Amino acid sequence: LIAALFIIAYLIGSISTAVWIGKAYYGVDIRQHGSGNSGATNTFRVLGKKPGTIVMLIDIFKGWVATSLAALLVIFNAVPADDLIFYQLAMGALAVVGHIFPVYERFKGGKGVATLLGMMLAIHLEVALMCMIIFVIVLFTSRYVSLGSMIAALAFPILLLLPRFHPDNPILIIFGFVVFAVVVLTHRKNINRLINGEESKANIKLGLRK
Ligand code: G3P
Repeated sequence: LIAALFIIAYLIGSISTAVWIGKAYYGVDIRQHGSGNSGATNTFRVLGKKPGTIVMLIDIFKGWVATSLAALLVIFNAVPADDLIFYQLAMGALAVVGHIFPVYERFKGGKGVATLLGMMLAIHLEVALMCMIIFVIVLFTSRYVSLGSMIAALAFPILLLLPRFHPDNPILIIFGFVVFAVVVLTHRKNINRLINGEESKANIKLGLRK
């Protein structure tokens, strides 16, 4: 059961929402436009608000479902309840890996942010919601989605260090810092563009502009 669920988590993450919606409804391969990223941000930028919102919600949902499915392992007595967090982290991480390296799209996927958010919502709702607020604040002040994503990813483990949000298992904090490192890695091109002043700014009213 454990192996089967791990594979399912990866396959759920691999669902390349942005590429498939772009091709099916707009005849566009999102990876050849805008930032070239197969994610919600680039869908907003290239195709508009409606498909952008749909891609964002599905990508968040992928992370949430894959993480939540770990509960089946406890329900079917495959693992002790105390170990649930490890399996949630493993399955959420596999969904994120699937999103970044999708098996159906020659392993060329997105940056993992929306799927990570879904995972974090399933694991620590309160802190995940605070990270969303931080993301929105950074987005509205800087108009850089990528900067908002990275700062929100850093905020997650930092908030967990506060006594009020301290998780039962400190593994979550370590995992949060590893996730931040992964987010920085997937945003390397964005970081270069930010440094050179070439990163595209979000047009808050109309979606995103190049
Ligand atoms: O979630 C991805 C976002 O942080 C950046 O996307 O398309 O601007 O590279 P993009």
